[in-house]
Amino acid sequence: MIVVAQVSDTHIDGGPRATERAEQVMRHIDGLTVDAVIVTGDVADNGSPAEYEIARKILTTRHPTLICPGNHDSRGPFREVLLDSDGDAPVNQVLRVGTFSIVLADSSIPGRAEGRLDPETLTWLDETLAEAPGQAFVGMHHQASTIHVPYVDGIGLRNPGDLADVLGRHSNVVAVISGHAHTAGATTFAGLPLLLGPGVVSTSLTPYETEARPPVTLDEPPGFALHVFDGEHLATHYRVVPHQAST
Ligand SMILES: [Fe+2]
Repeated sequence: MIVVAQVSDTHIDGGPRATERAEQVMRHIDGLTVDAVIVTGDVADNGSPAEYEIARKILTTRHPTLICPGNHDSRGPFREVLLDSDGDAPVNQVLRVGTFSIVLADSSIPGRAEGRLDPETLTWLDETLAEAPGQAFVGMHHQASTIHVPYVDGIGLRNPGDLADVLGRHSNVVAVISGHAHTAGATTFAGLPLLLGPGVVSTSLTPYETEARPPVTLDEPPGFALHVFDGEHLATHYRVVPHQAST
Protein backbone atom coordinates (compact mmCIF):
# COMPACT_ATOMS: atom_id res chain seq x y z
CA MET A 1 0.00 0.00 0.00
CA ILE A 2 1.25 3.46 -0.91
CA VAL A 3 -0.20 6.48 0.88
CA VAL A 4 0.88 9.92 -0.29
CA ALA A 5 -0.28 13.18 1.27
CA GLN A 6 -0.34 16.06 -1.20
CA VAL A 7 -0.02 19.66 -0.07
CA SER A 8 -0.09 22.47 -2.59
CA ASP A 9 0.11 26.20 -3.07
CA THR A 10 1.11 27.32 0.40
CA HIS A 11 2.17 30.72 -1.03
CA ILE A 12 4.31 31.54 2.00
CA ASP A 13 4.70 35.33 1.93
CA GLY A 14 6.04 36.16 5.36
CA GLY A 15 2.60 37.11 6.64
CA PRO A 16 0.85 35.23 9.43
CA ARG A 17 -2.11 33.94 7.43
CA ALA A 18 -0.22 31.80 4.91
CA THR A 19 2.24 30.63 7.55
CA GLU A 20 -0.50 29.58 9.97
CA ARG A 21 -2.47 27.72 7.33
CA ALA A 22 0.60 25.81 6.13
CA GLU A 23 1.62 25.03 9.71
CA GLN A 24 -1.83 23.68 10.54
CA VAL A 25 -1.92 21.39 7.51
CA MET A 26 1.61 20.09 8.07
CA ARG A 27 1.04 19.56 11.80
CA HIS A 28 -2.04 17.53 10.93
CA ILE A 29 -0.18 15.46 8.32
CA ASP A 30 2.64 14.85 10.78
CA GLY A 31 0.17 12.82 12.84
CA LEU A 32 -0.95 10.65 9.93
CA THR A 33 0.37 7.30 8.75
CA VAL A 34 1.64 8.10 5.27
CA ASP A 35 4.61 6.96 3.19
CA ALA A 36 5.44 10.35 1.75
CA VAL A 37 4.38 13.97 1.47
CA ILE A 38 4.51 15.86 -1.81
CA VAL A 39 4.22 19.62 -2.16
CA THR A 40 3.11 20.50 -5.69
CA GLY A 41 4.41 24.02 -6.07
CA ASP A 42 3.81 27.66 -5.26
CA VAL A 43 5.58 27.05 -2.00
CA ALA A 44 6.51 30.73 -1.77
CA ASP A 45 4.44 33.65 -2.98
CA ASN A 46 7.27 35.83 -4.29
CA GLY A 47 10.13 33.33 -4.49
CA SER A 48 12.37 35.11 -1.98
CA PRO A 49 15.00 33.36 0.17
CA ALA A 50 13.25 34.63 3.32
CA GLU A 51 10.02 32.92 2.26
CA TYR A 52 11.84 29.64 1.65
CA GLU A 53 13.47 29.85 5.07
CA ILE A 54 9.98 29.92 6.57
CA ALA A 55 8.80 27.16 4.23
CA ARG A 56 11.79 24.94 5.03
CA LYS A 57 10.80 24.87 8.70
CA ILE A 58 7.10 24.39 8.06
CA LEU A 59 7.35 21.73 5.37
CA THR A 60 9.58 19.47 7.42
CA THR A 61 7.71 16.53 8.97
CA ARG A 62 8.69 13.06 10.08
CA HIS A 63 7.69 11.81 6.63
CA PRO A 64 9.86 11.79 3.49
CA THR A 65 8.93 14.94 1.58
CA LEU A 66 9.41 15.95 -2.04
CA ILE A 67 8.72 19.50 -3.23
CA CYS A 68 8.45 20.85 -6.79
CA PRO A 69 8.32 24.50 -7.90
CA GLY A 70 5.32 26.41 -9.21
CA ASN A 71 4.96 29.64 -11.12
CA HIS A 72 5.29 31.73 -7.95
CA ASP A 73 8.55 30.02 -7.05
CA SER A 74 12.05 31.02 -8.07
CA ARG A 75 14.41 28.16 -8.89
CA GLY A 76 17.57 29.75 -7.50
CA PRO A 77 16.32 30.50 -3.96
CA PHE A 78 14.18 27.32 -4.05
CA ARG A 79 17.27 25.21 -4.72
CA GLU A 80 19.49 27.11 -2.34
CA VAL A 81 17.22 27.00 0.70
CA LEU A 82 15.10 23.88 0.20
CA LEU A 83 17.55 21.60 -1.62
CA ASP A 84 21.00 22.87 -0.59
CA SER A 85 21.93 23.12 -4.26
CA ASP A 86 22.41 25.96 -6.71
CA GLY A 87 21.74 26.98 -10.29
CA ASP A 88 18.46 27.60 -12.06
CA ALA A 89 17.97 24.34 -13.98
CA PRO A 90 14.53 22.70 -13.76
CA VAL A 91 13.97 21.01 -10.40
CA ASN A 92 13.18 17.39 -11.34
CA GLN A 93 13.19 14.82 -8.55
CA VAL A 94 12.12 11.28 -7.78
CA LEU A 95 11.33 9.64 -4.45
CA ARG A 96 11.13 5.86 -4.11
CA VAL A 97 8.87 4.08 -1.65
CA GLY A 98 9.90 0.46 -2.06
CA THR A 99 9.52 -0.14 -5.78
CA PHE A 100 6.99 2.70 -6.17
CA SER A 101 8.22 5.97 -7.64
CA ILE A 102 6.94 9.47 -6.99
CA VAL A 103 8.23 11.55 -9.89
CA LEU A 104 7.95 15.33 -9.61
CA ALA A 105 8.73 17.37 -12.71
CA ASP A 106 9.32 21.12 -12.92
CA SER A 107 6.63 22.72 -15.10
CA SER A 108 7.51 26.31 -14.21
CA ILE A 109 8.71 28.89 -16.72
CA PRO A 110 10.80 31.52 -14.92
CA GLY A 111 8.84 34.77 -14.79
CA ARG A 112 5.67 33.33 -16.31
CA ALA A 113 2.33 32.19 -14.85
CA GLU A 114 1.65 29.46 -17.39
CA GLY A 115 3.60 26.20 -17.46
CA ARG A 116 5.78 24.20 -19.81
CA LEU A 117 7.86 21.06 -19.54
CA ASP A 118 11.29 21.86 -20.99
CA PRO A 119 12.89 19.37 -23.42
CA GLU A 120 15.39 18.36 -20.73
CA THR A 121 12.54 17.75 -18.28
CA LEU A 122 10.63 15.64 -20.80
CA THR A 123 13.78 13.58 -21.48
CA TRP A 124 14.36 13.17 -17.74
CA LEU A 125 10.75 12.10 -17.21
CA ASP A 126 10.98 9.59 -20.06
CA GLU A 127 14.20 8.07 -18.68
CA THR A 128 13.01 8.10 -15.08
CA LEU A 129 9.81 6.25 -15.93
CA ALA A 130 11.76 3.76 -18.08
CA GLU A 131 14.13 3.05 -15.17
CA ALA A 132 11.42 2.93 -12.49
CA PRO A 133 11.32 -0.50 -10.85
CA GLY A 134 7.54 -0.43 -10.48
CA GLN A 135 4.51 1.83 -10.77
CA ALA A 136 4.63 5.59 -10.38
CA PHE A 137 2.80 8.81 -9.68
CA VAL A 138 3.84 11.71 -11.89
CA GLY A 139 3.42 15.12 -10.32
CA MET A 140 3.96 18.69 -11.43
CA HIS A 141 2.59 22.12 -10.59
CA HIS A 142 0.60 23.02 -13.71
CA GLN A 143 -2.47 21.04 -14.69
CA ALA A 144 -2.40 19.50 -18.17
CA SER A 145 -6.18 19.42 -18.73
CA THR A 146 -8.99 21.94 -18.95
CA ILE A 147 -10.70 22.16 -15.57
CA HIS A 148 -13.51 24.61 -16.38
CA VAL A 149 -12.12 27.42 -14.27
CA PRO A 150 -11.25 29.88 -17.08
CA TYR A 151 -8.93 31.91 -14.85
CA VAL A 152 -6.83 28.78 -14.20
CA ASP A 153 -7.26 27.27 -17.65
CA GLY A 154 -5.63 30.40 -19.09
CA ILE A 155 -2.38 29.63 -17.25
CA GLY A 156 -2.23 25.83 -17.52
CA LEU A 157 0.43 23.59 -19.03
CA ARG A 158 1.19 24.85 -22.55
CA ASN A 159 2.57 21.60 -23.98
CA PRO A 160 0.24 18.85 -22.77
CA GLY A 161 0.82 16.91 -26.00
CA ASP A 162 4.51 16.51 -25.15
CA LEU A 163 3.57 15.15 -21.72
CA ALA A 164 0.97 12.81 -23.24
CA ASP A 165 3.63 11.47 -25.64
CA VAL A 166 5.94 10.59 -22.74
CA LEU A 167 3.18 9.07 -20.62
CA GLY A 168 2.01 7.06 -23.62
CA ARG A 169 5.40 5.31 -23.74
CA HIS A 170 5.09 3.98 -20.18
CA SER A 171 2.45 1.67 -18.77
CA ASN A 172 3.57 2.08 -15.16
CA VAL A 173 2.07 5.52 -14.49
CA VAL A 174 -0.92 5.33 -12.14
CA ALA A 175 -1.97 8.98 -12.09
CA VAL A 176 -0.86 12.54 -12.70
CA ILE A 177 -1.01 14.85 -9.69
CA SER A 178 -0.98 18.64 -9.93
CA GLY A 179 -1.38 21.83 -7.93
CA HIS A 180 -1.82 25.33 -9.37
CA ALA A 181 -5.62 25.12 -9.67
CA HIS A 182 -6.26 25.73 -5.95
CA THR A 183 -9.19 23.32 -6.01
CA ALA A 184 -9.77 19.81 -4.72
CA GLY A 185 -10.71 18.42 -8.11
CA ALA A 186 -10.33 15.45 -10.40
CA THR A 187 -10.25 15.06 -14.16
CA THR A 188 -8.39 12.91 -16.67
CA PHE A 189 -5.35 13.36 -18.85
CA ALA A 190 -3.86 10.97 -21.43
CA GLY A 191 -6.17 8.24 -20.18
CA LEU A 192 -5.01 8.65 -16.59
CA PRO A 193 -6.58 10.26 -13.54
CA LEU A 194 -5.43 13.86 -13.13
CA LEU A 195 -5.83 14.73 -9.47
CA LEU A 196 -5.70 18.33 -8.30
CA GLY A 197 -4.56 19.26 -4.83
CA PRO A 198 -6.48 21.98 -3.01
CA GLY A 199 -4.67 25.26 -2.42
CA VAL A 200 -3.63 25.72 1.19
CA VAL A 201 -3.76 29.50 0.92
CA SER A 202 -6.97 29.93 -1.11
CA THR A 203 -9.61 28.18 -3.22
CA SER A 204 -10.51 28.79 -6.89
CA LEU A 205 -14.20 28.75 -7.74
CA THR A 206 -15.95 27.80 -10.97
CA PRO A 207 -18.13 30.28 -12.93
CA TYR A 208 -21.08 28.29 -11.59
CA GLU A 209 -20.28 29.37 -8.04
CA THR A 210 -19.20 33.00 -8.34
CA GLU A 211 -18.95 36.02 -10.61
CA ALA A 212 -16.00 37.40 -8.63
CA ARG A 213 -12.83 38.31 -10.53
CA PRO A 214 -10.51 36.67 -9.81
CA PRO A 215 -12.76 33.77 -8.78
CA VAL A 216 -10.81 33.04 -5.62
CA THR A 217 -12.05 32.79 -2.06
CA LEU A 218 -10.02 33.08 1.13
CA ASP A 219 -12.92 31.79 3.22
CA GLU A 220 -12.48 28.06 2.66
CA PRO A 221 -10.33 26.17 5.19
CA PRO A 222 -6.96 24.82 4.04
CA GLY A 223 -6.92 21.26 2.79
CA PHE A 224 -4.83 18.45 1.41
CA ALA A 225 -5.23 15.21 -0.53
CA LEU A 226 -4.52 11.63 0.45
CA HIS A 227 -3.71 9.43 -2.54
CA VAL A 228 -4.01 5.76 -1.60
CA PHE A 229 -2.89 3.00 -3.98
CA ASP A 230 -2.66 -0.75 -3.39
CA GLY A 231 -1.05 -1.69 -6.68
CA GLU A 232 -4.39 -1.99 -8.40
CA HIS A 233 -6.92 0.47 -6.98
CA LEU A 234 -6.30 4.18 -6.56
CA ALA A 235 -8.49 6.31 -4.30
CA THR A 236 -8.06 9.96 -3.42
CA HIS A 237 -9.54 11.45 -0.27
CA TYR A 238 -9.71 15.19 0.20
CA ARG A 239 -9.59 16.67 3.69
CA VAL A 240 -9.79 20.11 5.19
CA VAL A 241 -8.00 21.28 8.30
CA PRO A 242 -9.93 23.94 10.21
CA HIS A 243 -8.02 27.20 10.16
CA GLN A 244 -7.69 28.83 13.54
CA ALA A 245 -6.41 32.34 13.03
CA SER A 246 -4.21 33.69 15.77
CA THR A 247 -5.71 36.64 17.62
FE1 LIG B 1 -0.80 28.93 -6.60
